[in-house]
Amino acid sequence: MNISVNTPVIEIKNASITFGNFKAVKNVTTSIGKNEIRFFIGPNGAGKTTLLDAICGKNKLSEGNILYNDGNREYSLPKIKEHKIVELGIGRKFQAPSVFSGITIQENMELAVAGSKGLFSSIKGNITKDERERIDDALNFVGLYDMKNEYPTKLSHGQKQWLEISMICVLKPKVMLLDEPVAGMGRRETEKTAELLRIIKNDCSIIVVEHDMKFVKDVSTSVTVLHEGSILCEGSIDDIQNNQQVIDVYLGRGGDKNVKN
Ligand SMILES: Nc1ncnc2c1ncn2[C@@H]1O[C@H](COP(=O)(O)OP(=O)(O)OP(=O)(O)O)[C@@H](O)[C@H]1O
Ligand SMILES: [Mg+2]
Repeated sequence: MNISVNTPVIEIKNASITFGNFKAVKNVTTSIGKNEIRFFIGPNGAGKTTLLDAICGKNKLSEGNILYNDGNREYSLPKIKEHKIVELGIGRKFQAPSVFSGITIQENMELAVAGSKGLFSSIKGNITKDERERIDDALNFVGLYDMKNEYPTKLSHGQKQWLEISMICVLKPKVMLLDEPVAGMGRRETEKTAELLRIIKNDCSIIVVEHDMKFVKDVSTSVTVLHEGSILCEGSIDDIQNNQQVIDVYLGRGGDKNVKN
């Protein structure tokens, strides 16, 4: 089963990633198209986070390539430094929270928008009118504008995740990578996150790693199942849920009920 993508934004080609003698990702080939919400699912240790880390430049490939087409030209991502990949339009939310609790929500947004211009520029209040407007828009979008002068410690778990999403939105990315965005959220928070992703998708391709199958069902346009570093199966959510191998190694074992965080 293969997904055919008309305009690939990300093309992962025969990608392998090794740590010492251990091959965490084995020969993965898949393409993610424009306005697509692709989910990477699979049991713990399947290689999902490792693969996201390779797209954003945090992990090196031992074999293969990852191509990115920003609409103007094509880039080979393994040749590009992590901060430059962000500047080219690939935003990333990590599995562990990356909001600073000692500064306000507004200041976290200013740091995000400063990006590689760095801390100094944001501390000096050196942000442009356009950047200020983008911060306001991104905070409004996730419903945190009225709390912008508060510290993140005031936020619920869900609101912290939305702050992280707005810290990516402010950069107007073409690709968004999200690692377990709804882990630990209640149903209503998860539904709001689904709504946000459906809107973001209009301007952006999204790759999401997640165990919550209801969320996958609600928002995915396509799903890639990883198992022990390889692609087990790829297709629509219905294809996946009816695939006996996927049921055997993941869905039927309650792997999707995994709550680690
Ligand atoms: N830096 C590293 N050094 C050595 N092994 C690693 C490293 N990072 C990941 N691994 C191993 O690679 C495998 C894949 O890990 P990865 O974090 O990608 O899994 P995952 O699919 O994201 O799982 P989970 O659902 O638990 O988050 C695991 O066996 C993990 O222990
Ligand atoms: Mg992971």
